[in-house]
Amino acid sequence: MKAIEIRNKYLNFFKNHNHTIIPSAPLIPENDPSVLFTTAGMQPLVPYLLGQKHPSGKRLTDFQKCLRTNDIDEVGDNRHLTYFEMLGNWSLGDYFKEESIAMSYEFLTKELGIPSEKISVTCFAGDDDCERDNLAAECWKKAGIPEERIYFFGKDDNWWIAGEEGPCGPDTEMFYDTGKPKCSPECNPACGCGKYVEIWNNVFMEFYKDKDGYRKLEQQNVDTGLGLERMAMLLQGKETPFEIEIFEPVMNKLKELSKIDNIQSRRIVAEHLRSSIMIINDGGRPSNVDRGYILRRLLRRMTRHMNKLEIDLENLGEVIDISIESLKELYPELDTNKNNIKQVIIEEKNKFVKTLKNGEKEFDKVANKVKMAGKDIIEAQVVFNLYETYGFPPEMTEELAKEQGLKVDMKNYQKLFEEHQEKSRMGSEAKFKGGLASTGEVETKYHTATHLLNAALKQVLGDHVHQKGSNITAERMRFDFSHGAKMTDEEKAKVEELVNDYIRQDIPVEKLEMKKEDALKLGAEAMFLDKYGDVVTVYKIGDISLELCGGPHVKRTGELGTFKIKKEEASSAGVRRIKAILE
Ligand code: SER
Repeated sequence: MKAIEIRNKYLNFFKNHNHTIIPSAPLIPENDPSVLFTTAGMQPLVPYLLGQKHPSGKRLTDFQKCLRTNDIDEVGDNRHLTYFEMLGNWSLGDYFKEESIAMSYEFLTKELGIPSEKISVTCFAGDDDCERDNLAAECWKKAGIPEERIYFFGKDDNWWIAGEEGPCGPDTEMFYDTGKPKCSPECNPACGCGKYVEIWNNVFMEFYKDKDGYRKLEQQNVDTGLGLERMAMLLQGKETPFEIEIFEPVMNKLKELSKIDNIQSRRIVAEHLRSSIMIINDGGRPSNVDRGYILRRLLRRMTRHMNKLEIDLENLGEVIDISIESLKELYPELDTNKNNIKQVIIEEKNKFVKTLKNGEKEFDKVANKVKMAGKDIIEAQVVFNLYETYGFPPEMTEELAKEQGLKVDMKNYQKLFEEHQEKSRMGSEAKFKGGLASTGEVETKYHTATHLLNAALKQVLGDHVHQKGSNITAERMRFDFSHGAKMTDEEKAKVEELVNDYIRQDIPVEKLEMKKEDALKLGAEAMFLDKYGDVVTVYKIGDISLELCGGPHVKRTGELGTFKIKKEEASSAGVRRIKAILE
């Protein structure tokens, strides 16, 4: 079964069980610089898991574009992916364990046709925080899984939380038995030898964890996640996701173009290329910080492995075409964005090729120094600096050193590298955690300020102004909008004055729910129309502003303080950017 068929079956199945299909949120979370990428289907739904009413109801289903970069260095083996698609269904205080398990079992066995004997499940064994999940086990038995294929494990295996704080709870996981022999008599779904492959995770999210411990949420939620590529791999009887239709054509092309046979490198190229395509498609661009840096790393690693395979880099365009071709059944929008995506990737590749050349020059300097000093080893810190400052890959340093009869202290380099990685991993975990915490008071003010600014810009510059993006931190806001020319000082002063005028009027901010078509008829602003379901939340600020938006917002504009434009500049062709603060 192809991935697209699995996705369609999934969404239809849950639709038939009274779930509303909601659109995938973008891979790059909006208005939330604290989170790098969307990492799970539940992430955009956190406010609703915590009790806020979702405009599409209590039973939801979707496919979610996800990116997880913690294991980026593992990519190349037979299972790790950075980008993946997660199919999910949610109960927001509606059904709980029994119905959730019954539906999962029905979907796996009836819709996907997986024989019941191939399914094993795990449940939470219980501890001081939460009791043993006998109910889940009972539900499995009722559904048709015999006791000997029901396992119990502790928090390490059967408890789900994103980061350190947030909604969480015991989970029950489903495993597919590949039929491989047990690695030992004790072999079980938690063992990781490859006999059992996890296929679905149903989290019974009825707790919230913070630094004070666990407390019960007001509602009992279900949050499930099923990895699409992995399911396609199993149903197609493949050993790795790189053999399914999403990757196979590109893997074949890479094989044809390579002079060296190295399957790990081919996987890295195919995988990193797909993730980069998806990030760029959702607006990401390479840079030296945060998301942009992840994209840069992916593209550099891809280029490096193309070099390793001795593929002529002139072929990159064709490889991108093939990758997009295999992906567009799942993501038709890739077709429209194709040229743009290609351009970004090829430009970055060209930059990296230059970096490599500069790195070689730097390397020569380093090598000369070492020789002049009468030594024959390049120190770890020097290798690391070449990597950090020039993006020069350590294995290149090693290779060139060898040619010149020099050694490299790779052992200590590895240590330095790991320390550095640990730091960045801690950084990204902190970010993920930060993103899941509820939006702070200051960010909420800025969020409302973007609506006022949008309205004021329209007043002053004209109706052609639409929001093109925004980014908020506790210190400032950034707002991108369509407008062809630099704003004059007079225009800026007028906009600033208008926003402050709206604030002084202390207008109430109203949250309304309505059908999308009605909202559009009323002339509501909407940045990403496709992103929203049929019923939408609209924020209304007097007669000044009406926007489709998930919130949160302040209650009255008077809470915002004083609005100040700090800068107005070009963002991209036809798009201007304003940086502003509230004082
Ligand atoms: N949040 C859970 C996961 O990511 C289930 O969707 O596995």
